[in-house]
Amino acid sequence: MKHFWYKNAIIYSLDVETFMDSDGDGIGDFAGLTNRLDYLSGLGITCLWLLPFYPSPNRDNGYDVMDYYSVDPRLGTLGDFVEFMHEAKERGIRVIIDLVVNHTSDQHPWFQAARSDKNSKYRDYYVWSENPPEKPQAELIFPGEQDSIWEYDEQAGAYYLHNFYKEQPDLNISNPAVREEIWKIMGFWLELGVSGFRIDAAPYLIEPYGIDNPDMKQLCSFLPQMREFVAERRGDAILLAEANVAPDKIPVYFGNGDRMQMLFSFLLNQHLFLGLARKEAASISEGLKLLPEIPHTGEWLNFIRHHDELTLDQLSEDERKEIFAAFAPEENMQIYGRGIRRRLPPMLGGDPRYVKLVYSLLLSLPGTPLLRYGDEIGMGDDLSLEGRTSVRTVMQWSGEKNGGFSTAPQEALAQPIISKGEYGYERVNVIDQQRDPNSLLNWMERLIRTRKQYPEFGKGKWRILETDHSSVFAHCCEWENRAIIALHNLADQACTVTIKSNDCKMKHPIEVLADHEYEPLDGDLNSIQLEAYGYRWFRVSSVG
Ligand code: NOJ
Repeated sequence: MKHFWYKNAIIYSLDVETFMDSDGDGIGDFAGLTNRLDYLSGLGITCLWLLPFYPSPNRDNGYDVMDYYSVDPRLGTLGDFVEFMHEAKERGIRVIIDLVVNHTSDQHPWFQAARSDKNSKYRDYYVWSENPPEKPQAELIFPGEQDSIWEYDEQAGAYYLHNFYKEQPDLNISNPAVREEIWKIMGFWLELGVSGFRIDAAPYLIEPYGIDNPDMKQLCSFLPQMREFVAERRGDAILLAEANVAPDKIPVYFGNGDRMQMLFSFLLNQHLFLGLARKEAASISEGLKLLPEIPHTGEWLNFIRHHDELTLDQLSEDERKEIFAAFAPEENMQIYGRGIRRRLPPMLGGDPRYVKLVYSLLLSLPGTPLLRYGDEIGMGDDLSLEGRTSVRTVMQWSGEKNGGFSTAPQEALAQPIISKGEYGYERVNVIDQQRDPNSLLNWMERLIRTRKQYPEFGKGKWRILETDHSSVFAHCCEWENRAIIALHNLADQACTVTIKSNDCKMKHPIEVLADHEYEPLDGDLNSIQLEAYGYRWFRVSSVG
């Protein structure tokens, strides 16, 4: 079978602005990130996903782009980017970047030209209306922060569509000239060596939200065209779609293997949290079973948390409430009526056994795992910050001033540092954890190393294994005569489980990872002990 690098990758996402400041201005930059590539390489990650680093007024953390061909001067220069790419390549680390083309910033020269001149060729780059239809409040993306998806522009004398903030006018994707611009942008960054793109807000690129009489044929052709373009320019580059959609919509994104290679696994993510809240493996199994078959070139990107809220919109109101009750009981921990604005460790009460259980699950679920900067040391959140910024605090490198992130005065930092409480940088930081053999960081390195040795998880066929304990999630992944089994106990009580599935005749289980040293199994998969929040991975030599 072909290589498909992204199926055995460990992807790590970061925002250059909050990762490492090299020049003491309080803002992370490419030179700082480049200096930390040895750290990332030691951690074992194989691919970086960089959040938008383009010039931007920063109304939406860089997801409002003013110039697609450049680097935000606060973060460095295009030269610094190229140096960074070279150094990443030296270490065998691939880089994927955010492609934000559902909308531009309202400061982008295209929008400026479009609003000031009806006859400008840029007018039709955006979506205008004299009398826009109202969208129900419930469907707004940022309820409470935005009250319509149409904004009247005095200069243009018309309303423009903006599915996100009003400073982010939507591009008119059905206009062939806009598509040409998008190919050019992609071509530019591919030429600089990126291994692909995270396609921001993918559903909005192909669904006619807010558009009257949409040209559906044009819209539907967009994803295959994008793939064709990328394939022609760089055969191994991937497209990773951010599409939080219902199961029946998923095939639209994968196509017959001729569209996106990867999709964020939003459904599984939400069911995973339901399973954790209920301490019931059934919810995780249900999440997996909801996912349709995907083409053999396709892959899921599994994640626990990323830079946005933990959205729970695909669950029922009651299910959402259960998760809120377990992990975000206070209103200030919730956002948009559908999500949670916390990092994982505080949600789990800081219990290291529980945190490790969740990451062990993440790295063993069928698909490719995504980690986010700070996950490896168990960084927390700052709920005193507004909205989604609670989880966007700067990286905690050491116990020094500003957590070693920057030498600037604290008020000058791009985003605050967590300095107080049990997640403050004096207690949670890289240097201390590197020295401590029992730290989360050292454990995470081992977890990553082990996962990379078992491509079965990312490339294989998965099966859920029935057990006699409802709190134990057990599954098996098989690939090219190899198989691996993982068991995860979601409950805070130890148990002894037996695998009941009789289609699973596995021999010679060899333990490759566990939360603790257990008695070796006596040859078959009966009476397997698991501690509270325990996990065990077994390599098995033959499967019947
Ligand atoms: C998804 C990004 O993850 C989010 O942070 C942003 O606000 C929207 N897309 C709009 O670009």
